[in-house]
Amino acid sequence: MDWVPMNDLSRAVVTHRDALMSGMTKVLDSGWFLLGPQTAAFAEELASYLDVSHVVPVGNGTDALEIALKALMPEGRTTVLCAANAGGYGTVAARRAGFDVTYADVDAATHCLDAADVAARITDAVGVVIVTHLYGRAADVAATVEAARSVGAMVLEDCAQSLGGLTGDGRVGSLADAATFSFYPTKNLGALGDGGAIATSSDDVAAAVRRLHQYGWESKYRIAGEGGRNSRLDELQAAVLSHRLPHLDDWNAARRAVISTYVEAAPDGVRVLPASDASHTGHLAVVEADDREALRAHMEAAYVRTDVHYPIPDHRQPAYGSRFEELSLPVTERLAQRVLSLPVFPELRQDEISRVGAALASFHS
Ligand SMILES: Cc1ncc(COP(=O)(O)O)c(C=O)c1O
Repeated sequence: MDWVPMNDLSRAVVTHRDALMSGMTKVLDSGWFLLGPQTAAFAEELASYLDVSHVVPVGNGTDALEIALKALMPEGRTTVLCAANAGGYGTVAARRAGFDVTYADVDAATHCLDAADVAARITDAVGVVIVTHLYGRAADVAATVEAARSVGAMVLEDCAQSLGGLTGDGRVGSLADAATFSFYPTKNLGALGDGGAIATSSDDVAAAVRRLHQYGWESKYRIAGEGGRNSRLDELQAAVLSHRLPHLDDWNAARRAVISTYVEAAPDGVRVLPASDASHTGHLAVVEADDREALRAHMEAAYVRTDVHYPIPDHRQPAYGSRFEELSLPVTERLAQRVLSLPVFPELRQDEISRVGAALASFHS
């Protein structure tokens, strides 16, 4: 039997091959490969889609976090607060930016940052709070902003998994001081390689981001501030992303429909995190089970691929040694033992979705 894959990126290429080829051929023929018209056009299209004033494309989502953190960090502050269950990207970016990191726990139902715990743990050393819209679910940005503002901190949305989420307050990515995006190929809006972006409606933050992503330049060859680096999206990827952006809402709806099938199929003792409305992008189909390994073995015996997002919370990563030994994040630590991801992507076939659903339904905990 064929495996049901976690992802198959070739399927989206096959159906859009001609349009992708013609966009890329245009770039090849133009001889303009960086900082050209494709990147400018994509930045404008994304800004308009998000309803923000500025989008600055960069090399990837981790660079976007690092640059945005530097741009947002208030003078005299040195600490970033984030969730510890979001794959470690915020922590890696904050450390690269030279900042300390501290954590708050997540909400047991949403798996996103628990704003009440942020309010309880935040100190006035914290200059930026990263709120990650995990698995595609829109986190409670307004409550996080309120907690952050109590100590004068800024808020950065990590939208690597949530581009396209639409809340009652606007698009995910337009709800705080700035937002970052990844166009890694498996993301909801994926490039054919690496890519990322920073969005903001603040002219000052945008100006700082523009400096920081190109050597600290204020104008060509004039370095106005330290901490600059080189991180740029290329013209080929921008052409691909411009072609794909108009399809994003349909693709996200297809992902949500797959997850709804799994919600209906889930047996007692297995909870599928729902993705029921347009605020959720359906990035990952995550289930919770008491015996995650038994469920994983059961799914793999039915030739269904699975993955774990994410097995090691940031504060327990070996790289950080005993630095966070004293820190307890009970919900984060419990969920890391319970979560399992099932296949979800827009081109997943109906027979594959049914096979995943049937395998899930036949699991007895
Ligand atoms: C939540 C989150 N933040 C940041 C990133 C980093 O993006 P990139 O791989 O483009 O550096 C990712 C994905 O990889 C992610 O899932």
